[in-house]
Amino acid sequence: MRRRIIAGNWKMNMTKAEAKAFMLELLPLIKDAKCDTVLCVPFTDIHRVYKLALDSNVKVGAQNVAWADKGAFTGEISAEMLLEVGAEYVIIGHSERRAYFGETDESVNMRLKQALKTGLKPIVCVGETLEQREAGKTEEVLSQQIKKGLEGVTEEVIIAYEPVWAIGTGKTATPEMANETIGFIRKVAKELVGEVSILYGGSMNAANAQTLLDMPEIDGGLIGGASLKPNDFATIVNCH
Ligand code: PGA
Repeated sequence: MRRRIIAGNWKMNMTKAEAKAFMLELLPLIKDAKCDTVLCVPFTDIHRVYKLALDSNVKVGAQNVAWADKGAFTGEISAEMLLEVGAEYVIIGHSERRAYFGETDESVNMRLKQALKTGLKPIVCVGETLEQREAGKTEEVLSQQIKKGLEGVTEEVIIAYEPVWAIGTGKTATPEMANETIGFIRKVAKELVGEVSILYGGSMNAANAQTLLDMPEIDGGLIGGASLKPNDFATIVNCH
């Protein structure tokens, strides 16, 4: 099923006090929002953001989840732990996890299956590097990330298309380019899991969000930098 989802990815930002101030400023600005609004926050902020968002339309997510139920996995966090503090969503396979922490399509697949098994709603990230795009390999790379990442999965997932060269760089994909690539991802994903919501991510901001969201293939956004500013994030959430 396709739905409009605007998800913030706070990455490694926001102390407890900053998170509270952000929420108090954000919530009144988005009280009439029509989309599903999600904030994927650091583990230590999940419970606080969840509690502050209780009477609102904002849902809370994490930025990673372990593939195992429990045990000797130093530095990891389990789905049960996330659910217990109020997380409903989880980002899996973000390009920063792939680039800096050795995440692979195989580990993405294991984490995804664990999320689905435990009832966390996964947002699976895919995207090509600039080098891969310039070499004409975008479709090959994305197709592999989706097929391997979603292998053996039949449940509904959310996919975020985040071209690596557009993340945190201020270089947004043109709406046409994002639309075309997401159209391709939709075709590949459809054969595996059916119709899903596909978000665009990569320097989406208050100024360019509406043009991107107007494109027929783009169901929503995964927003990094602009999700740290209540006004900017609210503008994106309130796009029609
Ligand atoms: P950005 O990050 O909006 O700061 O480019 C997006 C993301 O990495 O999810």
